Amino acid sequence: MSRKFNALLINNENEKFTREIKELDTSSLKDGNVLVKIEYSSLNYKDALILNNGGKIIKNYPFVPGIDFSGVVEDSQDEKFKKNDKVILTGFRVGEMYYGGFSQYAKVNSDFLVKLPKDLTSHKAMMMGTAGLTALLCAFAVKAKEELLMGNKVKDVLVTGATGGVGSFAVMALSKMGYDVHAATGKKDKVEYLKKLGAKNILDRKDFLGESRLLEKGLWDCVVDTVGGEALTKILAQTKPGGIVALPGNAGGNKILTNVMPFVVRGIKLWGIDSSGASVKRKEFVWNEASKLIDFSIIQNSIKEVSLKELIDVFPKILKGQLTGRVVVNPNI
Ligand SMILES: NC(=O)c1ccc[n+]([C@@H]2O[C@H](COP(=O)([O-])OP(=O)(O)OC[C@H]3O[C@@H](n4cnc5c(N)ncnc54)[C@H](OP(=O)(O)O)[C@@H]3O)[C@@H](O)[C@H]2O)c1
Repeated sequence: MSRKFNALLINNENEKFTREIKELDTSSLKDGNVLVKIEYSSLNYKDALILNNGGKIIKNYPFVPGIDFSGVVEDSQDEKFKKNDKVILTGFRVGEMYYGGFSQYAKVNSDFLVKLPKDLTSHKAMMMGTAGLTALLCAFAVKAKEELLMGNKVKDVLVTGATGGVGSFAVMALSKMGYDVHAATGKKDKVEYLKKLGAKNILDRKDFLGESRLLEKGLWDCVVDTVGGEALTKILAQTKPGGIVALPGNAGGNKILTNVMPFVVRGIKLWGIDSSGASVKRKEFVWNEASKLIDFSIIQNSIKEVSLKELIDVFPKILKGQLTGRVVVNPNI
């Protein structure tokens, strides 16, 4: 039985981009084999780029963005999922190639879905969203130094872009794992916020810019760098032998300049993080660890909940760096 529902559609007519809430019918959703009634989605940096002008990602218009969502299965053609199962979706090009989460319904491939762990709610899942999942993938990359690679115990971990979505969750998860987190930020007024998340020490992001020697004094056992760009030169040179630098982001630029010494003299590993394409098995593992590593009562204070209509006004802020904390999208208000 088909149902009418609301979705945020973007359109592009001769490079003039528009956004509006429109009524669609579930019979028009052609991709995938599981129909999900969406409870929450969230705003990520990539969503904002897409909402702005397609972000050079969207090929076919009109289009429903939203790279993540949580909700309830309404109809499934795969026996892995039954009606009323609670599910989470992140990545796999949903919201980029397939209609996404800024909508009351989505139809997706069952291979993209993760069952919501019993100790999470749909709302908590999207408080984290892609940013939180990415942060946990980074935190487990750090942990791999002492577990998978059997290296020395990790003590000091640097997190850059610490007040951002990925950075905030990384600070919290790494401090819950027992590490001393050094949070680099450009926001002097967010020291208390970062300490509440578990940061031991706050650094100015400017300290990582400028000239770097091939190798500098080793300061960090591991790093989560959500910024990339110029700062990575010094960060790699300051990482201690055997250290892992997890790199999920490019908020500070796409180009990096480095040299071979951190890699061949200190055996440092630069570990790229792509949350979108991470296997469902790995996503399931990480989501099932989330409630142990995230204190939602602390995160709650920095969550803003918006309707689809309000999202249209809010998204430009993330592009201007004016947003602290996360935006949860409720398509049903
Ligand atoms: N690989 C993946 O799977 C994946 C998944 C999600 C996100 N990402 C990427 O990860 C990055 C962070 O995402 P997010 O959701 O956390 O974004 P966000 O909420 O906008 O946070 C980015 C943070 O980086 C810092 N920053 C921003 N512009 C900067 C600049 N020009 N130079 C230095 N620092 C700057 C700011 O933190 P401070 O003011 O505290 O320094 C900002 O809060 C983005 O590049 C995003 O595209 C990747």
